[in-house]
Formats: sequence, structure tokens, C-alpha cells
Amino acid sequence: MAFDGTGKVWMNGTIVDWKDATIHVASHVIHYGSAVFEGARCYHTPNGSRFFRLDAHMRRLYDAARNYRMNYAIDVDALTRAVVETVQANGLPACYIRPMIYRGYHALSVNPLPNPVEAAILVWEWGAYLGPDALEQGVDVRVSSWTRSAPNTFPAMAKATANYANSALIKMEAVLDGYSEGIALDPEGHLSEGSGQNLFLVRDEVLYTPPLSASVLPGITRDTIITLAQDLGLAVREHDLPREMLYVADEVFFCGTAAEVTPIRSVDKIPIGIGRRGPITTAVQQAYFDYINGIVPDSHGWLLPVNFPSHAATR
Ligand SMILES: Cc1ncc(COP(=O)(O)O)c(C=O)c1O
Repeated sequence: MAFDGTGKVWMNGTIVDWKDATIHVASHVIHYGSAVFEGARCYHTPNGSRFFRLDAHMRRLYDAARNYRMNYAIDVDALTRAVVETVQANGLPACYIRPMIYRGYHALSVNPLPNPVEAAILVWEWGAYLGPDALEQGVDVRVSSWTRSAPNTFPAMAKATANYANSALIKMEAVLDGYSEGIALDPEGHLSEGSGQNLFLVRDEVLYTPPLSASVLPGITRDTIITLAQDLGLAVREHDLPREMLYVADEVFFCGTAAEVTPIRSVDKIPIGIGRRGPITTAVQQAYFDYINGIVPDSHGWLLPVNFPSHAATR
């Protein structure tokens, strides 16, 4: 998906035109990957546009910033209001939202601390992340030859740009080998996650997902799926999973804000279950789409109106 180059961007408190949302090439973030960011979505529902779990995304952003000792000038509530304003300024009924906090321009050395901490918010329209057919047909994936970072290297819980060097290697390897995605193992060889998605397996009507200790991002969709699956009466277990569980699972799917709920139909050319989207994936996917699209009542309080007065944007 290429940008069309229009729209408005929030940069350190000012809404600017897309073309003016620039930073200097000597900014620390460009050289040393010193940024943390989020990926949230706003959906067009019958009751108007709604942010999905924006508070959870913003909390994760500030948690990531804390890990990297980045103190941004305004607090999480104020930046959340800025997200609301940015979406309103762009007038998009449904969009993907990318707030980021980064180290700006001052001096270049590995030490990020002398550099200013800045922020920007981008929004754009973004459809199905793994292609329009993926949600129904499922995708073919491989287990990556790259592993996720060890717990004492990078904080996996922090959504930091630096982590995505590893994701990019996983993704490129998969795509160049003819797969849609890669599934990475953790340093112990247990299942971890995709380059930008969490992972669920189904066997005998029980859902399994790797724990946070398996170098996964604590996905907000992952948490949503756990809750919605439990609402459906399904058991969910979070524990270490060996690679071979993939091949004997009845169903496997990815989840994430971008990927939403995407079935996996084969891993390493071994068909999963019936070789297409299975019944539990279908039920969970339906529950997810019904929720985000406002088809069912917001029983968990996850939808926030975009036209909400800005001062009440956080709950
Ligand atoms: C590495 C990784 N894992 C998992 C996820 C899913 O997280 P969420 O559901 O919060 O979007 C993402 C999404 O950005 C990701 O980049």
C-alpha cells in the first residue's frame, strides 16, 4: 500500500500537512532506531467512527517509552487527545493510527539521552494487512530461521522500532521464499510470534497461545481474542509451545491490529487441519469483527467515539 501523500500529521503539538511532516536526517532515531510506536485502528460502525482499545495502545506506548527512558513533554491523556484530534483533522471514518515517540536532532552518538524526545501521529487508510483474500482463505507461512530476541537483549514488551529489524528479516525471508509470513521461535526454540502478529493454535477445541515470556509483544488483539474466546465458552491456555504443535494443530491463526484475525492454512507446506479456515477460527474471527464493527454491544467498553469531546477522550 503506497501513501497518497495527503492528509494531516500531528508533530509535537502542531497539525501539519503530510508533506511537511519531516525530520532532519541527523536525527538520532534514524541512526539508532530510538523510537517507540503504536499501531491502533479506528473503525466505521453503525453508530459512527470508533477507536478500538485506544487507551490500551496508548498505555503500551508510554510503557515502551519508560523502558527506553524517554520522557515526553505531555502525558498519556494529552497524547491520547492529540490522537483524537488527528483523526478528526483527517476526517477518515476508518483508519490505522500510528503515534510514535522518538529521539530527535541534537547530537549523534549511541547515547540517546542528550537528544530531544519528540512525537508524531500519522493516520491512514489501511485494509487487510495480509491481502484481501487472507481473512477468508488463510495464508501460507514458514517457520523462520531467525529467532526472536532473547529476554535480556531487547524488551519484547516494548513496541520499539529497533525490534522491527528482527521482524523485517523474518518478513523478507518469508516473502522471498513465497510465503505470506514467518513464525519466529523464541531463543529456547518455543513458538513465539509472527513478524507483526501474535499466534494462536487450536487443538481439541482449546486455544493455545505463547506466553509473554516467549519474547512476544503483549498484543492488544491477543488480549481481545483471549477475552472473546472465553466469552464464547472456549478454554484458552497460555504456555510454552513446541514448534511441532503447529503441524498437529487443528487450526492456527495470527492476530494483530493490522492483521486482525488471519487464518493460517499451512506451515512449512504442511496443511493445517482441513487446510483452510477452521470452525473455531471462524467463530473467533466473527466475534472479533462483530465487536470492532459495532455489530454487537460494547460489553467490554473497548470502543471510543471519535467525535467524543476531546477533553473526555480517555477513560
Ligand atoms: C511483533 C508484533 N507482535 C504482535 C503484534 C500484535 O499486537 P496488537 O494486537 O497490539 O496490534 C504486533 C502488532 O503490531 C507486532 O508488531
